[in-house]
Amino acid sequence: MNLLEVRNLDIDYVTQEGTLKAISDVSFDLKQGESIGLVGESGCGKTTLAKSIMRLLPKNGVISKGEMLFKGEDIVKKSKEEVRKLRLKEIAMISQSAMNALNPVYTVGDQLIEGIRAHSNATKEEAAKRAEEVFKIIGLEAKRLKSYPHQMSGGMKQRAIIAMALTLNPSLIIADEPTTALDVVVQDKILNQIIEIQKQINSSMVFITHDISVVSEICETIIVMYGGKIMEKANTKVFFKAPYHPYSLGLQNAFPSIKEIGEELISIPGSPPNLMKEQNGCRFQERCPFRTELCQKELPELKEVGEEHLIACHYPEKVNEFREDAKKRETWEGVRNRLIEESVGEA
Ligand SMILES: Nc1ncnc2c1ncn2[C@@H]1O[C@H](COP(=O)(O)OP(=O)(O)O)[C@@H](O)[C@H]1O
Ligand SMILES: [Mg+2]
Repeated sequence: MNLLEVRNLDIDYVTQEGTLKAISDVSFDLKQGESIGLVGESGCGKTTLAKSIMRLLPKNGVISKGEMLFKGEDIVKKSKEEVRKLRLKEIAMISQSAMNALNPVYTVGDQLIEGIRAHSNATKEEAAKRAEEVFKIIGLEAKRLKSYPHQMSGGMKQRAIIAMALTLNPSLIIADEPTTALDVVVQDKILNQIIEIQKQINSSMVFITHDISVVSEICETIIVMYGGKIMEKANTKVFFKAPYHPYSLGLQNAFPSIKEIGEELISIPGSPPNLMKEQNGCRFQERCPFRTELCQKELPELKEVGEEHLIACHYPEKVNEFREDAKKRETWEGVRNRLIEESVGEA
């Protein structure tokens, strides 16, 4: 059974300058125990999507269309109280901003115990025991429960946050760039712990990152987003062997750890689209080396190109050619030159 089914989701931000379409027609399923890596450049809507699942969008954020079925019930239609319960018992979020959620005047242990008791009918002793257990899983000594947040390093604090999120055996973990501000060694440790726990409690996970190499290590499924839309969804192993979408090909060039030795890093010229503007055609067309007139006019639908492998591109049959060309620097130089010409043309 699917734990989560997102269907045709649209999310807008209402601003003084107009409406920004942060998420457009996003649909995907998440199976029980499955982990999905959600990737894409900054501003493509990852955090918006994560927050909407928790119903924690800022005031000006509106789910204007679609549904999100969690265990068959639509999160979008739930009351505040129902959503609160869901957040406490079923869905846990681990994010960078959660670091600020630790209260400086209480020990981490007291906050953890308080949290456990607020969401269960555990006695103080039971909650304390659970807190110790979780600390152990996350690789912190039990005596650390007596520390105040300021007595802990960034890495320890982040682990404590993860511990808090996991005390309740959530069925869904949403991790939004949980290790971005930490150094690489700590990052690796924490990622491994998150995966270990996720497997132990068989929870599902949506793991958000701008670094696709992280996803290759920890997620079964990858979703590549661009400009508020899904460009590609695939089994991670399949994806890293044979990505389809030109944007995915571009992303792969830009990350060193998944490149073959000897290949050079090439970034994608240009920047993501302005989501305030009405979009015609493919969201990626401006920066795509392979665009045609059709791409500028008509939005490509997500279509299957293999088993559970979806892409939104008009030209899946040209993928071999695209893959070859995408490895060449001049292909992307061509995009850069086109962008320069276009901006001169506009001025
Ligand atoms: N509160 C807000 N009000 C207006 N626009 C917002 C708000 N939050 C995010 N956005 C815009 O929504 C888009 C998606 O942002 P976000 O979900 O944070 O992307 P990501 O997490 O992938 O970097 C961006 O264009 C961003 O500027
Ligand atoms: Mg974000």
